[in-house]
Order: sequence, then structure tokens, then C-alpha cells
Amino acid sequence: MKNHLSVGIVGCGYWGPLLVRNFIGLPNCTVAAICDMKEARLKHVHSLYPSVGCVTEYEKLLSDQEIDAIVIATSVKSHYPLAKASLLAGKHTFIEKPMAASSAECEELIELAESRGLVLMIDHTFLYSAAVRKIAEIVDAGDIGDIRYINSRRLNLGLFQKDINVAWDLAPHDISIILHILGEFPVSVNCQGNAHVTPEVEDVTNMSLLFRHKRFATIQSSWLEPRKVREMTIVGSRRMIVYDDLQTHEKLKIYDVRVERPPHYDTFAEFQYSYHYGDSYIPHLHQEEPLRAVCQHFLDCIQGGTKPMTGGPEGLDLVRILEAASESLKANGAAINFASTANSVPFRRARAADTVALAAS
Ligand SMILES: NC(=O)c1ccc[n+]([C@@H]2O[C@H](COP(=O)([O-])OP(=O)(O)OC[C@H]3O[C@@H](n4cnc5c(N)ncnc54)[C@H](O)[C@@H]3O)[C@@H](O)[C@H]2O)c1
Repeated sequence: MKNHLSVGIVGCGYWGPLLVRNFIGLPNCTVAAICDMKEARLKHVHSLYPSVGCVTEYEKLLSDQEIDAIVIATSVKSHYPLAKASLLAGKHTFIEKPMAASSAECEELIELAESRGLVLMIDHTFLYSAAVRKIAEIVDAGDIGDIRYINSRRLNLGLFQKDINVAWDLAPHDISIILHILGEFPVSVNCQGNAHVTPEVEDVTNMSLLFRHKRFATIQSSWLEPRKVREMTIVGSRRMIVYDDLQTHEKLKIYDVRVERPPHYDTFAEFQYSYHYGDSYIPHLHQEEPLRAVCQHFLDCIQGGTKPMTGGPEGLDLVRILEAASESLKANGAAINFASTANSVPFRRARAADTVALAAS
């Protein structure tokens, strides 16, 4: 197995240059070339990293025998054709979230990668962050009790997209975190929203994921808010977690609060809920750029021949939920039931083991 890998990166818009910086910063990797159909973007990124080659034709990345892996950071619609071509060219492939524009496309890419023994990884960035890893650790240890519900808000003014709505743009982060924490696939999805600025492209959506045992998660996504908000609340039967990603140091706060119902009472006067107020605490988080951990994990999977924590199946789960949300939007928020579809299988992934392996890397 090669101990030094060469990657090519396609897409030098907003996110691509961050991937270029992170891959360049890893010791076991070289960024051989970057590609964008817009020369101005290429020139800009090249001015930052003059040692990296530049091409406007994607085929040149594919035909370069030195390149082991392709990293795709282009618009969502182009993920599938670019990833398919990359896998057919025998390259390990990394795709930005969301994996593709439909679940059928995701399934084809998974099959292709498996049949060729290639690593296919999707960038569900937040799962590699110290905050989400700590949440998973706390949940797995049973510290917060049974999760009752999760509420997530990802709001800001812009950046307006033209080809995907706000749910496809922002909610992938929340969905990936929620599936990771709960370790299961929802039973149904509802989504309501409105397109105020670009016709037919919803800029505000409210999504609701229903899980087994009546647990649910709500996800509010907006490009039309005056304030930037990145907040998730996880309400457990014993404790509650507030995750504010905009905080630099105190991203997580664990509240030792709960409400208990008395076991029995005879009169209304005797009836009193018992409110428990304990200490709240802020766990220490190791500061590291999550994207660096994402990029390193991709290289580790190639070198070790292992499956990524966020591979094709996880990318597919996420896209299935986004598809259902789009269907629900068209049906004015009606529930789209996964239980009625043939291939719905609730999962419980080996999350704890994956997290430990990642932390050790
Ligand atoms: N993981 C995260 O936190 C995160 C954050 C932002 C964006 N993203 C994802 O990254 C991807 C890119 O988003 P962005 O905001 O950078 O978009 P962008 O529009 O700013 O940039 C995309 C770039 O890709 C180029 N491009 C498109 N098709 C191409 C092709 N066929 N060949 C060569 N170049 C091509 C465009 O010219 C453009 O420069 C999206 O999938 C998005 O969801 C992920």
C-alpha cells in the first residue's frame, strides 16, 4: 500500500479551496492538480498554492496515472457524473455533501465503488468535529438518559443557491448529526417551506423526522434570518445538551435538569411535578479543524483498506431523507413514510467503535 497519496480536487468555488488547504497540510498527501471550469477561480486558488497544477478539463485529472484519488467539491447536480467518471477511472473518490441529487444515483455510485474495491467517502464534516464526537460519547455512556427529542436550527441571511433549496444546502449537516446520535433511520419525514426570493427554490424549511418509539427531531433551515444561528438541543430523560456551534470555546453545555412525574397522587393538591435542577457543565473539547480530520480519514481509509465512517451508505441515507423532504414539500408537508417502502431498514451503526478509531488516528 502506498504511504504517500496524490489527490486531484475538482471545484474551486467556496468550499474547494478549504479542501485544497487541508489536503496540502497533511503529511502523507500531495495535491497534484486542481480543476475548475472557471479560469478565474483556478487562477485565484493557484495564486494561493502555486505548486499545485491547474486544469480546466476534468478528464485531465482522470487520465493522470499519478493521481490516486479525486475530491469533488462542485454543485450537487454534478456530483454523480463526476464521481461516476472518477470511479470508472479507478480513482478513490471523495464527494462533498449531499452525496448526489437522488438516491438512485447514490446506489449506483455505491455499487460501482464496491465492485471496483475503491474507497467512496462523503464529507459529512460535522461528524468529525470534536463537539459531535463528544455528544456521541456522552449519549453512548448513557449520561443523558433516553433521548426524547432533538431540535436543530441552522439559520442565516444567504447564501442563496439557485439549483438546490435550503433543506438540501443546510439540513445535511443536521441530518447527519441526528442520524449519528440516534443511530437509526427515521420512520417518516415531513417538510414544509416557502420560496420567497427565487421562485420554486425554498429559502425557509421546517423538517421533522419521526423515529421509532415516538422520538422526533425538528430541523429549521433558513437563508432569510437576520442572525446567524447554529444551535442544536438534545433533550434526554436525565440531562439535556445544548450545542452552539458559533461559540469558539464553549460549544457544548450539559444541563443536569429534568422533570419527573410523581408515581401516584390522590388529589390535585398533592399533584406536583418534580423539577430537578443540578449543575450544568461545559466539557473541554480538543480544538482541531474538523475538515482536517475528514481529509485525514479519507487517506487513512485508502491506505488501510477500511470503510469510511461516512461512506456511500451514510450518504445514501441522507439523500433518501432529503428526497422525502422534497416530496413532502410538494405535498404541503404531508408525512412521507419510509416504513411503507421496500428498502427501509432501521440501522444501528457501530458508531462508538468508529468514533474511538477516529479519535485514536
Ligand atoms: N461540508 C461542508 O461543510 C460544506 C460547506 C459548503 C459547501 N459544501 C459543499 O461543497 C460543494 C460545493 O459548494 P460551493 O459552495 O463551494 O459551490 P460553488 O458554486 O461556490 O463552487 C463550485 C465550483 O465548482 C465548479 N464546477 C462545477 N461543475 C464543474 C465541473 N463539471 N468541472 C469543473 N468545475 C466545476 C464551479 O465552476 C465552481 O467554481 C457542494 O456540494 C456543497 O454542498 C460543503
